Amino acid sequence: MRYASVTLVLCVLLGLLGCDSGGSSSEMTEPESPTDPLRDLASQQSVRVGAAARAGPLLDGGQYASVLAREFNALTPENTMKWTPLRPSADSFDFSVADQVVAFAEENDMDVRGHTLVWHRQLPNWLTSHDWSRDSLMTILETHVKTVVNHYEETYPNRIARWDVVNEAISGTSRRPSIWQETIGPEYVALAFQWAHEADSDAKLYYNDYGIAGTSDKSDAVYDLVRGLVEEGVPIDGVGLQAHVLTYPPPPTEEAIVRNMQRYEDLGLDVAITELDVRVPLNTDGEDGRPSSEQLDQQADYYARFANACVGAPNCSDFRMWGFTDAVSWIPNAYDGYGAALIFDETYEPKPAYDALARALGESSGDGN
Ligand code: G3I
Repeated sequence: MRYASVTLVLCVLLGLLGCDSGGSSSEMTEPESPTDPLRDLASQQSVRVGAAARAGPLLDGGQYASVLAREFNALTPENTMKWTPLRPSADSFDFSVADQVVAFAEENDMDVRGHTLVWHRQLPNWLTSHDWSRDSLMTILETHVKTVVNHYEETYPNRIARWDVVNEAISGTSRRPSIWQETIGPEYVALAFQWAHEADSDAKLYYNDYGIAGTSDKSDAVYDLVRGLVEEGVPIDGVGLQAHVLTYPPPPTEEAIVRNMQRYEDLGLDVAITELDVRVPLNTDGEDGRPSSEQLDQQADYYARFANACVGAPNCSDFRMWGFTDAVSWIPNAYDGYGAALIFDETYEPKPAYDALARALGESSGDGN
């Protein structure tokens, strides 16, 4: 791999200084980027390239933090801005960890995507175990949305330019049952956008969901929901296409992704690739539970597919993965027998997907925006 050879050559040249291509010690020589860092390539296309960042390893420093800052000009807090960490109780907020993640982004000139204000998961017990009236739950939600958005606008002005306001409100082709849907009713979606807009009128507000990157029944259902919001005058600016996909069955074709992006462009909306990862079934084709070279090449093609679609679309300027190293990934916990979903391996060696992404970001002629 190119990174390994660069490291090897450096090791030979540096001789007695000592050098190690793996490990996670913060004392080790900081690894060089194998190409121009992705963030430099993306900047030339006026695109942000980012990854979900987990607070623990990020705040520990070390290789996780240094590679994240080196390669990306954007991050999305993976869990730290969800309700459970932010809301220890009904009448308190705890921004301590999330603030440190945003401060890291500020120090490293990275854009932060706020994730997420309204979701059916990672909700605290005090919220889910109580039988709220509609009015009281609306007050709780309004307070949450406005307090969180205000906090970041005031504490780190302009650092969070985009929010995933509502996450995964569609299941199949219908509204997903949730505490919000059941107690407030379907209008909770429009209300959340309105409250976020009142808190920060400059922020770009997104609906974010999975399984909607291409064309499908769910993709159509989300499109209908979003078009309805636009027609009602709800302050929505874009749609986040999560893209948690597999090497097999394959993800949507580039043409389907482009067509889907275009229909949002026709509505006057931005799109973003918000959570791309390409998980690989292990222990089948690979050796010793490791992905085979065919799987890695397939994965690389799929990363490039999403990047090409985004860079080429006039309304896509935000391309993010759900993590960046197989050392820290939600996949093995969530999908037994799957892993190796990201562009760096567990020792921070870039995989073929990294090179494919670098090519897609470096060579595309799209104009972004
Ligand atoms: O914080 C506890 C820790 O105290 C405990 O020791 C540990 C034991 O398993 O669990 C920790 O909580 C976990 C949390 O991540 C923090 O690591 C939860 O069990 C685990 O369920 C949670 O998973 C997160 C998941 O959202 C929750 O639904 C994943 O990390 C996160 O990657 C994932 O992210 C979502 C996006 O927000 C929305 N789109 C889909 C995406 C993948 O599901």
